[in-house]
Amino acid sequence: MSVGILGTGHYVPTKVVTNKDMEKIVDTNDEWIRTRTGIEERRIADDDTDTSDMAYFAAENALEEANVKAEELDLILVATVTPDSPFPSVACRLQDRLGATQAAAMDVSAACSGFMYGLITAKQFIDTKTYKHILVIGVEKLSKITDWEDRNTCVLFGDGAGAAVVGEVSEGKGILSFELGANGSGGKYLYQDEHDHLIQNGREVFKFAVRQMPKSAVNVIEKIGYNKEDVDYLIPHQANIRIMDAAREKLGISEDKMATSIKRYGNNSAASIPIALSEAVKNGNIKDNDLLVLVGFGGGLTWGAVALRWGK
Ligand code: UT7
Repeated sequence: MSVGILGTGHYVPTKVVTNKDMEKIVDTNDEWIRTRTGIEERRIADDDTDTSDMAYFAAENALEEANVKAEELDLILVATVTPDSPFPSVACRLQDRLGATQAAAMDVSAACSGFMYGLITAKQFIDTKTYKHILVIGVEKLSKITDWEDRNTCVLFGDGAGAAVVGEVSEGKGILSFELGANGSGGKYLYQDEHDHLIQNGREVFKFAVRQMPKSAVNVIEKIGYNKEDVDYLIPHQANIRIMDAAREKLGISEDKMATSIKRYGNNSAASIPIALSEAVKNGNIKDNDLLVLVGFGGGLTWGAVALRWGK
């Protein structure tokens, strides 16, 4: 028995905000945003759609793909830094709306690494045979903590949700190795201020990310005695194409073997990895038995990576 992903889902708002649209809001331009970040457009949720709504849409999608009923869920873990309210948690709101009457529920706070922390937490409960089905979600409505007057940050982020149903898969498949880490001394580089705005020292986070993300990606592969050449598909946190390329180049894999939803969605924080994963499954970019590396980093500072053999 091993622990893996039984189904994935995602939801992004319909409203598209292009780089040209951003030019009307702050002193920026399409060329700067594209070349410095890889972002072409992002999705922004309307006032009536809150974090738990997006989580719900992604969850329904993942439960259907996994062929698991909401009543069969034992635990719901929601990674987010933009909950509807500090409490009740997004996970509890979702538990009610899904009718997941048997499920315990809590939110996980690890910023952009939140989905990786949620996934590995879920793995522990299933490894110990405590639970059978766990819904893990990464969801953000970053538009509500974005300072729309700060060009350093407002061009970077977007809203959305990604979900995975985690459970038992056959031996040899599923999560083969993982790494989680934190360095709280870097908390000052990415945080929410007294006005509830997201504040970032882009250069410092960039330096940390280009160092940590490639390292973690290689670590999870080496832990299981595989070589970099064995990796079939890379799903990095979608924060900046230049950081993503650093991880890709370290693994020595070609551009077509890396998820790049950043172009269309920007940085969705905790939602970026599960959205990219769900899209890759649906587009046929991931096939049965593929060796995947999922790797994220973010505020905290935090990071996390997983090597995963796709399939049930
Ligand atoms: O998921 C959370 C993790 N976050 C990240 O991974 C973010 C990591 N950092 C980054 O991705 C990059 O640092 C940024 C994309 C945020 C910035 O790129 P950069 O190449 O590090 O640019 P910079 O901060 O060094 O700024 C270069 C110049 C500055 O002008 P001066 O001081 O050189 O005159 C900025 O004021 O670019 C200016 N600038 C902009 N210009 C046009 C900053 N934002 C913009 C903008 N449009 N939106």
